[in-house]
Amino acid sequence: MQNFQDKNTAISWDKDTVSANPSRPEQLDMLITLIEDGYQPGKTILDLGFGTGLVEEQIFRRIPAVQIVGVDASQAMMELAHPRLEAFKDQYVTVQHDLSQIAGLQLPERNYQFIFSVQTLHHLTDSQMQTAYGFIFSMLEAGGLFLLLDRIAVEKAALYDCYQSLWRRQDRVYGSQVAQGEGANFPEHQEIVRTRGDIPMGLERHLELLKQAGFEAACLHLQTNRALFAARKPTE
Ligand SMILES: C[S@@+](CC[C@H](N)C(=O)[O-])C[C@H]1O[C@@H](n2cnc3c(N)ncnc32)[C@H](O)[C@@H]1O
Repeated sequence: MQNFQDKNTAISWDKDTVSANPSRPEQLDMLITLIEDGYQPGKTILDLGFGTGLVEEQIFRRIPAVQIVGVDASQAMMELAHPRLEAFKDQYVTVQHDLSQIAGLQLPERNYQFIFSVQTLHHLTDSQMQTAYGFIFSMLEAGGLFLLLDRIAVEKAALYDCYQSLWRRQDRVYGSQVAQGEGANFPEHQEIVRTRGDIPMGLERHLELLKQAGFEAACLHLQTNRALFAARKPTE
């Protein structure tokens, strides 16, 4: 089980975020572009799964005077963020909280125009995700946008060889190590995901739950099992 509370796990995760996930730089760039194009000065962005501040570092460089509230359960991860974000320390606050208990999350009173989450919500169960999407909907201002960039479940054993072909292709193109890490066959893949403590939901289930929460939602980009979703809260 990946333990983000552990300092050494935090340090080693922070050192290499790409070799097992070569889509991350491009998909992160897409997520930040969406924020950059719509952000209104004075509004706040909420990050669920602040981690070591890697995403914030890019946002602060690209969007002047942006304000962020970051939530994470791990002190060890957030401690690595503070030196990284020293130059932007007036532009963010952190809240330590376990997102599996999101209903009890106390946030600063702000106008949340964007809420995003990167590689974090796959730690929540289906019922915790339902609660999380309801909470996110209630926290966003009318017209606000929720962006999710995350691992989704590989659900079809009959298509596992297709996923493997594309992971091997990624490894050839990007020099990454995805194929081996995901498992030699479907049962091994499921065991790896389970042992790591991940419980990703399928793409269709995400869309169903987002719609149930009240959002207009779509998957904007998909690279095998890494998806970028956008969900808009209606204006009325
Ligand atoms: C893979 S890291 C991603 C960090 C950051 N979003 C990024 O992409 O750079 C996952 C983060 O989710 C946090 N996390 C996992 N489960 C959580 C939970 N139940 N509540 C709050 N944070 C959680 C971990 O502490 C860790 O910082």
